[in-house]
Amino acid sequence: MTTAILVGNIGFGGVLRQRQQHPLRRLGFRTTAAEFFFPAPGRIAPGKQLPGTGRLTLRVSSVASVVETKPRDPVTVDEGLPAKENILACPVCYQRLTLIGPPISVITTKGSSLQCDTCQKTYLGNDTHVELIAASGLKEYTESTSMTTEFFKFPLISYVYERGWRQGFSAVIGFPGPEQEFEMMKEYLQPVLGGNIIDASCGSGQFTRIFAKSGLFSQVIALDYSENMLKECYEFIQKEEGCPKENVSIVQADISRLPFATGSIDAVHAGAAIHCWPSPSAGVAEVSRVLRPGGVFIATTGLALADGGNLLLPLVKPFRASMYQITGSHIFVSDGELEDLCRSCGLIVVKCVRNRRFVMVAARKPT
Ligand SMILES: C[S@@+](CC[C@H](N)C(=O)[O-])C[C@H]1O[C@@H](n2cnc3c(N)ncnc32)[C@H](O)[C@@H]1O
Repeated sequence: MTTAILVGNIGFGGVLRQRQQHPLRRLGFRTTAAEFFFPAPGRIAPGKQLPGTGRLTLRVSSVASVVETKPRDPVTVDEGLPAKENILACPVCYQRLTLIGPPISVITTKGSSLQCDTCQKTYLGNDTHVELIAASGLKEYTESTSMTTEFFKFPLISYVYERGWRQGFSAVIGFPGPEQEFEMMKEYLQPVLGGNIIDASCGSGQFTRIFAKSGLFSQVIALDYSENMLKECYEFIQKEEGCPKENVSIVQADISRLPFATGSIDAVHAGAAIHCWPSPSAGVAEVSRVLRPGGVFIATTGLALADGGNLLLPLVKPFRASMYQITGSHIFVSDGELEDLCRSCGLIVVKCVRNRRFVMVAARKPT
């Protein structure tokens, strides 16, 4: 696979135009008593200036042979994205849930409950998030998951994650950092701007806040398996100035069993997470299931080896299974592997961008 090192201005710095004002909506639900449908007052301001520009050295794989050397075209919000309602589904049977109580958002989570009429099961909201896992409501049985998933459940790990740990990814792996990563993915998100986005395995919610503050999405759903990460996510949202809360919701969910109706989601972002999932293929398959035709998936991760380390591949590959048994983490050795994974789950790879060991893949669901 040919690669080239290119230096370019990866910022956008463009002017956001709206071809047609797109109504932003909160999650809407049908209840047995009444129909909830919530056009939110906010709109993406015409002429809005997108966040700043940056400079970054990128290595781009053969699939992704175009790198910007000048400011990109203005980002426009696609007209005609259908309003989504009632996207939450039972993680057991995938039937849409019925909301009892106020519509779900960061402000109203506590006291909300969702009913699955098929499974006769109720999913409850607590102070910070709505529990939407198959294991919700268990009384006697307790389930352990993979080592990495368990690891992020510790309060200390959740606490330090955004207070130094994530920043370390830049130095060690080459992650550009959340703001810059958002700038990089915006181009690929363009077809779904104005729609909803799931920040899958959101951790403490750095991207959730960036998505919400950007005003580019009608609904932002922060999702993680770790309750402590979700508590951090909630606290950070509360503290963050200018972060809208009425169209942000936080849900506890397993990536392998997503609580969303099939084809109901416009975009899924999974930052620095795919290697942490118990089964990346089960996770990406679920992402593919919930994406609507034309929906976009953006994933970032760190590869085990930087370019030039190919000689070590024969040494690394045989140990992957054992490493997973010991650490619960999956080792990706090339961007080609990520592309392969996306394709095997029915997605079309649009772009793969490298920066040292950092890799970002953008894929979309066929229309
Ligand atoms: C390294 S953090 C990434 C956080 C954030 N997205 C970022 O870009 O920094 C990985 C996250 O994956 C989550 N995770 C692990 N297993 C999961 C699962 N089975 N379902 C959903 N999330 C999971 C962890 O709880 C953790 O918050």
